[in-house]
Amino acid sequence: MVSLGGQRILLGVTGGIAAYKAAALVRELKKAGADVQVVMTDAARAFVTPLTFQALSGRPVRHALLDPAEESGLDHIGLARWAELVLIAPATADFLARLAAGLAGDLLSTLCLATTAPIAVAPAMNHRMWEAAATRANVEVLRGRGVQVLGPAEGDQACGESGAGRMLEPEALAAWVTDRQAPRPLAGRTVLVTAGPTREPLDPVRYLSNRSSGKMGYAVAAAAARAGARVVLVSGPVGLAAPEGVEQVSVETAEEMLRAVQRHAGGADVFVAAAAVADYRPREPSPRKVKRSAALLNLALEPTPDVLGWVAGLPRRPFLVGFAAETEDLETNARRKLERKGLDLVAANRVGVPGTGFDADENELDVYWEGGSRRLARAPKTVLGRELVALIGERLGAQGRA
Ligand code: CTP
Repeated sequence: MVSLGGQRILLGVTGGIAAYKAAALVRELKKAGADVQVVMTDAARAFVTPLTFQALSGRPVRHALLDPAEESGLDHIGLARWAELVLIAPATADFLARLAAGLAGDLLSTLCLATTAPIAVAPAMNHRMWEAAATRANVEVLRGRGVQVLGPAEGDQACGESGAGRMLEPEALAAWVTDRQAPRPLAGRTVLVTAGPTREPLDPVRYLSNRSSGKMGYAVAAAAARAGARVVLVSGPVGLAAPEGVEQVSVETAEEMLRAVQRHAGGADVFVAAAAVADYRPREPSPRKVKRSAALLNLALEPTPDVLGWVAGLPRRPFLVGFAAETEDLETNARRKLERKGLDLVAANRVGVPGTGFDADENELDVYWEGGSRRLARAPKTVLGRELVALIGERLGAQGRA
């Protein structure tokens, strides 16, 4: 983890049940080396006592605007200047509304008006409040002003309902803060990623597909966005949410994937083909549901278009990264693919290792390029995504494309 090296973070805590999680957030930020000043609203004090935050942050908690005792130290304008980042977690619907309206009736909203530091909010509220037109409009206003909106996540809520409105976990919020400090090797680049399986229809209700979960491609897309790239993710049908800051294009078939890639390949500096594109499709999908019968049924299959091959054939092709799933002679087969497809990098994984590969959370990759290789040891796909993106950044630099 990148050290925050004494970064001065003003943590605003507003009145929601997720306020108790802000205590863990203070700990995470302190662990990463930040100097944390907590400011609470009145409502927040009904959920957690200021003493908790004082003990964890090592600083007296501020909450009153114009209180002579509090203002005798760093006054509210001084506090607004002190902050290098203002993070509000949890941010209630009420606080988002006050922030959008520019109100300054309490210390925290006044600080937000007075600071020149970047502001980030981690909304937490009942899912209907999050979806309410007023909240949506407020969030749009805030985004338009450059306020970073982190989350919310979906899931079970304290009110017993379920939906989007949970505050992101403290670890995820702390990771966002530290990532801001991380090097951005792909800043200014556009990265196009394919992910997931494709579905090739047999008839209106059946299709040919594979077990790809899309996790590897999504991890690469998320890591590329964190590395500063503009990311377009062309995804087959998977059960994953689009990573933060990534433009997602949903497709079903190999043909649709090719068309989406053709639309977006023009400005791409890097193309990562992580999709498990079906190699064959039914030659003549039936327009009507095929009925069961006792007769033998033959399926005529034809090859699908090669998406990676199409990009490789472009006159000014991007830096190309392909994936290879191999059962034997990993290096020989991967290097052949590197050459045959004209790739810059090929990430190969051994099929059949329990707990890795298709549909698993973990993987291990051997990455090859002309004249070199690197083993990315077994790890969660999110970690491998970051390592692969770092390697792409290095190889781009080595090719003089930096
Ligand atoms: N790919 C693609 N379009 C296809 C097929 C594959 O873009 N129609 C991409 C995949 O996303 C992956 C790479 O090509 O990056 C895989 O290459 P391929 O030769 O299809 O690999 P395998 O399916 O493993 O093929 P082989 O049978 O040659 O081992």
